[in-house]
Amino acid sequence: MVHASSPSLLLVLLVAVVAGGGARLPVDAARNATLGELRVKNGLGRTPQMGWNSWNHFYCGISEGVIRETADALINTGLAKLGYKYVNIDDCWAELNRDYQGNMVPNKRTFPSGIKALADYVHAKGLKLGIYSDAGTQTCSNKMPGSLDHEEQDVKTFASWGVDYLKYDNCNDAGRNVKERYTRMSNAMKKYGKNIFFSLCEWGVENPATWARGMGGNSWRTTGDIADNWDSMTSRADQNDRWASYAGPGGWNDPDMLEVGNGGMSEAEYRSHFSIWALAKAPLLLGCDVRSMSPQTKNIISNTEVIAVNQDRLGVQGKKVQSDGGLEVWAGPLSGNRKVVVLWNRQGHQATITTHWSKVGLPVSAAVTARDLWAHSSFSAQGQLSASVAPHDCKMYILTPK
Ligand code: GAL
Repeated sequence: MVHASSPSLLLVLLVAVVAGGGARLPVDAARNATLGELRVKNGLGRTPQMGWNSWNHFYCGISEGVIRETADALINTGLAKLGYKYVNIDDCWAELNRDYQGNMVPNKRTFPSGIKALADYVHAKGLKLGIYSDAGTQTCSNKMPGSLDHEEQDVKTFASWGVDYLKYDNCNDAGRNVKERYTRMSNAMKKYGKNIFFSLCEWGVENPATWARGMGGNSWRTTGDIADNWDSMTSRADQNDRWASYAGPGGWNDPDMLEVGNGGMSEAEYRSHFSIWALAKAPLLLGCDVRSMSPQTKNIISNTEVIAVNQDRLGVQGKKVQSDGGLEVWAGPLSGNRKVVVLWNRQGHQATITTHWSKVGLPVSAAVTARDLWAHSSFSAQGQLSASVAPHDCKMYILTPK
């Protein structure tokens, strides 16, 4: 372990973080653990957050019933056991007007029992509750107030309710500077919300990857909103990829929540969506109605081998390492000197994708065991990997040197 009493090594590590970024973190496990600890500010987000969020499926059509039933479903389907712990309420949970003391008030019609009761309900199931606010005068729906200039009061309220997670959006900014607005919330969180996961939703407008970690952010959106279609999903993956070196334990790039199961993409496309989000160490926040999932949806989001890539303790975001007219290879390091590789066919017809070890970061002639994470089978490979991939589908492997 490195202690603060080793200033020179500490400095070297910090310089490595700032200059090198996640993609070039040292692979030695002990040093990585140390680096990880240094980067985890509030002790939260050691691995990317997993759970569910109401927005992608329900938009403003939420109620305490939906939230409770979702918590029940996360347990009953076994998803909670796989790591999906956060039950996150997005926009539209509050009354438009604050009370006479300036406090936010849960919507009296849709959340009549209040948020504290919901937090108690999900906590009793071993889950965590997330809430949503905005660094502006109103949230993006314009149906509830934002927290700008009410930061301390609101964080105190959220903490008193037992809230575990805050998603902080960026609408109605009153013409004020983004860093000023997010710094105000960051300070309030440091004072009153130390145990609350801080998820910045700034949409990547002013490169939050470069400053959100410094504000105690545990994740930061790198993109505008995802929509439930192939073009939107692929473009979010590409935009997010740019910021790979800034991700690591304690703070993650967020290309937006999952659309798997919402019906706008094919099974192959959802498999690619989930695989790339896992490889990119993106938050795995389900965005479908988990109370009524198809077997195909459940199969994708329950793949424990793919989830393990996302939650790998090394915490390095995988990147696009090869691209040839829509035939792509994404790869990154995992703990134990392993590599994860996704062969992704973004073309409209079946195609063979080949990659060589030089691209995925292995010694050129290394012999490995290749584990196919979707077929759940293993084989030997040396020097290269090649597969025929269906249109818009992918193959995902973990390569373990022999
Ligand atoms: C957007 C945000 C979405 C959702 C929505 C709610 O700004 O990116 O994820 O939270 O606001 O109105």
